[in-house]
Amino acid sequence: MTRPIGIICALPEERALLSEWLSEAEAGLVAGRPMMRGRLDGRPVVVTESGCGKVAAAVQAALLIDRYDCRALVVSGVAGGLAPELAIADIVVADSLIQHDYGHMTEAGLRRFRPGEPPVGDRRHDIVFSVDADLMQRLKASLQDISFDIPVDLAKQGHRQDQHVRLAFGPILSGDQFINSETVRERLHSDFGALAVEMEGAAVAQVAAMSNLPAVVVRSLSDLAGRDSHLDFGQFVATVAPMAAIVVRRLVGVI
Ligand code: ADE
Repeated sequence: MTRPIGIICALPEERALLSEWLSEAEAGLVAGRPMMRGRLDGRPVVVTESGCGKVAAAVQAALLIDRYDCRALVVSGVAGGLAPELAIADIVVADSLIQHDYGHMTEAGLRRFRPGEPPVGDRRHDIVFSVDADLMQRLKASLQDISFDIPVDLAKQGHRQDQHVRLAFGPILSGDQFINSETVRERLHSDFGALAVEMEGAAVAQVAAMSNLPAVVVRSLSDLAGRDSHLDFGQFVATVAPMAAIVVRRLVGVI
């Protein structure tokens, strides 16, 4: 029997469509969180709703690997945009994941260490969890012809004048903080050159790496992590989360 792919969403808005699409669905609760086994377009998957943050996501990641013998982990949901060329509703697929809040706090600021390593001394190693190059190629190829119109409510409110959502591949940051600050947004972008920030993906990548499994993270932008991100997030999470789910549905065939 083919081993399933585990799909982690932090929030109900992010999980809704994926759960709806499942056939042969069996719903349960594991460690107090919803866990739904089923088939997505005939392929075995387990969809879970972790709650927010690195700990919550890491717990579900470990359960998906250990209890369900998942062969890969996927994160589907929303993020705050960091790159100036991206707007609300654009989509980012991670080619690498970094925990921006893990490290050694000194007078000069945070020295980042690889999560899992002691954050003192010289054993810093690479702080990036990278997606394998062959897998990245397959993800890109399978998304070549995907296209989304700008959601109507975003266009109406003047958030976007263009016609189509952009799809970008690049680094995504994770940390146990909702970013609602222009200063922090700019610092995160200049420190890491990252495209987006969220609260789970790099924790899932860390757990997957411990078992030598791939982790794929797909995020649609609910906000831009700056001054208005708390307002934009609430307004757009339910509008943009389904776009990440649609991308994930397509990717499940090539992971
Ligand atoms: N997820 C969605 N928007 C976010 C933000 N601004 N900061 C962290 N995680 C997010």
